[in-house]
Amino acid sequence: MMAERRIEQTADGSHTIFIPELGEHYHSIHGSINESLHVFIENGLKRVRASKIRILEVGFGTGLNALLTCLNSQSSESQIYYESWEKYPLKPEEYQILNFADYLGGNHRLLLQLHEAPWEVPSQITDHFTLIKRAGDIRNFNSDHLFDLVYFDAFGPAIQPDLWSTAVFSSIAQTLEDEAILVTYSVKGQIRRNLKEAGFRATKVPGPKGKREITVAFYG
Ligand SMILES: C[S@@+](CC[C@H](N)C(=O)[O-])C[C@H]1O[C@@H](n2cnc3c(N)ncnc32)[C@H](O)[C@@H]1O
Repeated sequence: MMAERRIEQTADGSHTIFIPELGEHYHSIHGSINESLHVFIENGLKRVRASKIRILEVGFGTGLNALLTCLNSQSSESQIYYESWEKYPLKPEEYQILNFADYLGGNHRLLLQLHEAPWEVPSQITDHFTLIKRAGDIRNFNSDHLFDLVYFDAFGPAIQPDLWSTAVFSSIAQTLEDEAILVTYSVKGQIRRNLKEAGFRATKVPGPKGKREITVAFYG
């Protein structure tokens, strides 16, 4: 897997990555930033009412969700601990040219900081944002931490069904606080059943441009 990857522009101007071999984009072609803001920030981060928030991400990828969360923590003055799992990290020549900062206030350095942070150890990126990137397969998930929020941003279930399994959701559930939220862009029936088996109450809410609905699931 991960033979060839290329950077493409989405409808809101922001970049995404396309894997021709899988026919899979990292984000919606209707807008990367638009999608990430809607799914993960508006329907994930902004639903958690706490000043200290521990987030688990499945799929660090371009770092867009981490970047948006970091920027949000500065304006909301919250403290974020952000753990992100990634099996196929981007190479410097890929992440260095991503254009997200052009649409988010121009701080290109911040995205580089997220990508250049060492793996497996916590990095204090800003006063509000601590990042730890875990270089591994989410099917082997383990963590010493408890989480309030999960950004489940794996490739689509048609491509990687075993990542959306009851087993993976259950291993994540073991590290969640009661009423923790898992947010993801897929509303496929099998995924919602797997979430239910793992102890979540899955609800549907309106999706971003190009997608009717997304899933917001509550644990416990
Ligand atoms: C839909 S992309 C989204 C990535 C990221 N959140 C972003 O905004 O760019 C899915 C990500 O999951 C990663 N991934 C694929 N299989 C994985 C696995 N088994 N364990 C952890 N990450 C995986 C991919 O490499 C990719 O970066």
